[in-house]
Amino acid sequence: MSDAQAGQIDTVMHEERLFPPPPEFAAAAHIGSLDAYQRLWDEAAADTEAFWEKLAREELHWFQPFDQVLDWNPPFAKWFVGGKTNVSYNCLDVHLDTPRQNKAAILWEGEPGDQRTLTYQELHREVCKFANVLKGLGVGQGDVVSIYMGMTPELAIACLACARIGAVHSVIFGGFSSEAIADRNNDASAKLQITADAGWRRGAELPLKETVDAALAKSPTVEKCVVLRRTGAEVNMVEGRDFWWDDLMDEASADCPAAELDSEAPLFILYTSGSTGKPKGIKHTTAGYNLYTKMTSRWVFDLKDEDIYWCTADVGWITGHSYILYGPLSNGATVVMYEGAPNWPDEGRFWEIVEKYRVTIFYTAPTAIRAFIKWGDEFVRRSDLSSLRLLGTVGEGINPEAWMWYHKTIGGERCPIVDTWWQTETGGIMMTPLPGAIPTKPGSCTKPLPGIVPAVVDETGQPVDEGHGGMLIITRPWPGMLRGIWGDDERYVQQYWSTVPGNYLCGDNARCDRDGYYWIMGRIDDVLNVSGHRLSTIEIESALVSHEHVAEAAAVGKPHELKGEAIAVFVTLRDVEPSDALRDELKQHVRKEIGALAQPDDVRFTGALPKTRSGKIMRRLLRDIASGKEEVGDTTTLEDYSVLASLREDEE
Ligand code: PRX
Repeated sequence: MSDAQAGQIDTVMHEERLFPPPPEFAAAAHIGSLDAYQRLWDEAAADTEAFWEKLAREELHWFQPFDQVLDWNPPFAKWFVGGKTNVSYNCLDVHLDTPRQNKAAILWEGEPGDQRTLTYQELHREVCKFANVLKGLGVGQGDVVSIYMGMTPELAIACLACARIGAVHSVIFGGFSSEAIADRNNDASAKLQITADAGWRRGAELPLKETVDAALAKSPTVEKCVVLRRTGAEVNMVEGRDFWWDDLMDEASADCPAAELDSEAPLFILYTSGSTGKPKGIKHTTAGYNLYTKMTSRWVFDLKDEDIYWCTADVGWITGHSYILYGPLSNGATVVMYEGAPNWPDEGRFWEIVEKYRVTIFYTAPTAIRAFIKWGDEFVRRSDLSSLRLLGTVGEGINPEAWMWYHKTIGGERCPIVDTWWQTETGGIMMTPLPGAIPTKPGSCTKPLPGIVPAVVDETGQPVDEGHGGMLIITRPWPGMLRGIWGDDERYVQQYWSTVPGNYLCGDNARCDRDGYYWIMGRIDDVLNVSGHRLSTIEIESALVSHEHVAEAAAVGKPHELKGEAIAVFVTLRDVEPSDALRDELKQHVRKEIGALAQPDDVRFTGALPKTRSGKIMRRLLRDIASGKEEVGDTTTLEDYSVLASLREDEE
């Protein structure tokens, strides 16, 4: 645990404004009043298994019904035991004999301005064909398929095709380096790679295949690679290993019944950062995840058939998995998917897309909102945003100023804002103001969803008093919960379930106010949140010390206007003197080892790192120095006072 000890956290936010759901919104909402929410929450809390059982039987298609709701052998959960279902079936086939068959499932907008619409029928056909392609390449149930591509419809098709045959997808965000891809491929023993020649980003081509080539040189388990033609970039195709997507699809049959999969069949692995240098492969399975994302999409986004729903996340993150693909498609929603950057060809692109497709629900990250504010309102005012009825945020807390801007400038003061708190591990949204029911307080994710029972506790596991900070835990299992860390049960038990035995430790600090509203107060571990991306300081440090001239390194976060947090690193050198060239080289080195998203903003050289007597790096001190604060805290345990002095000098 970092030096921000639970239970000793100062509350700095005093937000008293309350925004009730607009009456017209509430009148038409799936959950339309605080009473309705409370009834549902109480019902779920009184008999959690009965609550989920009823929904599972009603909302999912079963090839074979389950005979046990939950097998809870803490911390290992099995939901809907004995049942057989298929996530791709629940996202596609269920809509085929309904009026939704020719409804748009995906409205896709490419960065250069090209567009494609895939109806439910068309998406179903493409998914069936690609599922047959996968089978033809020798991919079967339980095999891991690694996916590294841009935001094209084929990314959705690839995921759903894996789900259809019981293969396990591992999507790797396009900002990661070849080293990071190889690490993940090896950890998961991936059998097949899917990528594209390149992707569009701010008018430039991102060389995806080239990066994959370097990764595959170090991924011995990967046998074959499917390459989508997206930009037409020249790429190197390895005979016998690499195949073009369209060549394979031309030959593929469109007949591929969904495999009848066990409720607990693994659906995907998604790597995320924890408090060690090695990313964790978070494992999600079939039925529970499907039900949880379906229900939370409907409750939180108040999804209706006539909505045009746009989540701006990348499918490389959990938000894209749960709230671009599986949740909305299970509900038969129309989803907007955009390939590129928000500021291409200029800073008004998002708002043009909202106007063009008449988007009704818009879900984005606070870091993006801060960028919109900085870019200026004129880009927003150019477009007609009157179609919007609901806004959401995800990935980090939102500061009240950004919340107010979102509310006024984007939402025209008529759209509720759902600040959704959750994690890769939770599979779906855990706490948020249901838009027709719960009055919002800017900066608070408000209350838990039905079936979710959180608590705020101290290090002994005892609940802290109202209004006091402590560790956030979830006190009972839920269907969307992670089922483990891929290949590492011990780490799963140790990391999430042993601090407060039998309870899920989120890794966030929080407080609960007198109205029962939760306020997330940041991580308890050394995890940074840079532009809504989760990064471990230790991962960055490991990358740095792998450089020949680095002896020791410490990475900390410092406040950043747009990114929320920026990365500052302190480095001690071996054999060489500090230089600007080396500073740049180290930034590039981290970029190469992990990816552009982890590139440090600041690199500071120091003679030694400040440590406590027990040898722990004094991160709080480094954070204070990195952020330029005058106050550097109690330094009496500093091993070497001269270090602090020289670091401070450096600041002058
Ligand atoms: O610290 C919390 C922060 O993001 C972490 C989860 O990151 P990740 O697994 O990458 O998932 C992000 C998308 C769900 C959390 O532990 N976080 C996420 N949403 C919020 C948040 N912090 C405050 N408020 C939120 N709404």
